[in-house]
Amino acid sequence: MSHAAPELRESAFLRACRREPVQHTPVWFMRQAGRALPEYRKIRVGIPMLESCFRPDLVTEITLQPVRRFGVDAAILFSDIVVPLKALGLDLDIVAGVGPVIAEPVRTAADLDRLPPLEGAPQVAEAVRLLVAELGGTPLIGFAGAPFTLASYLVEGGPSKDQRTTKALMYGDPPLWNELMARLADITLAFLRVQLDAGVSAVQLFDSWVGALPAEDYRAYVLPHSARILAGVAASHPGVPRIHFGVGTGELLHDMGQAGADVVGVDFRVPLDEAARRIGPGKAVQGNLDPTVLFAPTPVVREMTSRVLAQGRAAEGHIFNLGHGVLPETDPDALTRVVEHVHEATST
Ligand code: CP3
Repeated sequence: MSHAAPELRESAFLRACRREPVQHTPVWFMRQAGRALPEYRKIRVGIPMLESCFRPDLVTEITLQPVRRFGVDAAILFSDIVVPLKALGLDLDIVAGVGPVIAEPVRTAADLDRLPPLEGAPQVAEAVRLLVAELGGTPLIGFAGAPFTLASYLVEGGPSKDQRTTKALMYGDPPLWNELMARLADITLAFLRVQLDAGVSAVQLFDSWVGALPAEDYRAYVLPHSARILAGVAASHPGVPRIHFGVGTGELLHDMGQAGADVVGVDFRVPLDEAARRIGPGKAVQGNLDPTVLFAPTPVVREMTSRVLAQGRAAEGHIFNLGHGVLPETDPDALTRVVEHVHEATST
């Protein structure tokens, strides 16, 4: 970070992460690269999702597409939360319209042998280096899946509405659960460090499905593992902002901040002023326009965007985003208009 070009270090996104005054409220969108963009659908024809994540030329192009089109304040590396698991050789696939599917679920102590430490991910590192060179003053966000969300795919074998097998293992066999979570935390930290060593300016730890837990169980079974990752990032790469996000986490916001994040991502269910109150001082917030609002008429989108901006002023720092990822059927022009509106409404 300290070697970064001044325009990068002083970008609105990184300033907001550090809770410094900004020239305008920065905006990017979770899942800004992907099926909502015709240029993405075109470049992906005939190339499976996971294969594309291991091709530095494709990762670079796909990551840059939304930056060019929308004028967002940050890029996010095109990858997926299961990429480090694939790099370990696990038999898994990303099925279109479904999500990650694991051939043999991880449910016993013997299954943990399939989760050794991650030694590296050279194609991902190469993609980050290419991107940092291309992006100049625009920050690149690296990311990884948090242990609970990764565990949920590994234990269930695929996406699940209620995480029942995962929670049965967690409550039923805490020692095995903790060993699984510890291994996933090691893998996640190693994967983030691959990206950090290659030059990303910030990282986001996605714990998308952790909202399935009550706060006291989050604190007992999840927080220590996520905290070890976030502390590990701070130890090896001090000053690099850490964002932590999950869906349906209104009851967990304070604890997720305590896990060590500099920025807490908020889904669309909790207004940002209330979220900032729950999270407490010393953190920035990120969010939280409901992605389905983008299907409403333009004046409604503007009004809802303004509401998010107004509520975000209660926080010490605000990065505008959606409350979850861009839906594939979204009109990309609606996203362009949101970026323009956020910038115009907040420019100083
Ligand atoms: O935000 C970005 O632009 C970067 C790209 C990104 C992807 N996955 C690409 C992707 C990011 C940040 C992710 C993270 C991810 N992957 C999460 C955490 C964020 C979240 O949404 O909660 C989770 C839970 C996953 C697992 C996963 N991978 C799901 C649920 C899906 C969707 C399945 C589908 O087809 O609807 C994927 C596939 C995936 N990851 C796609 C993309 C662009 C779509 C596949 C394709 O384009 O062929």
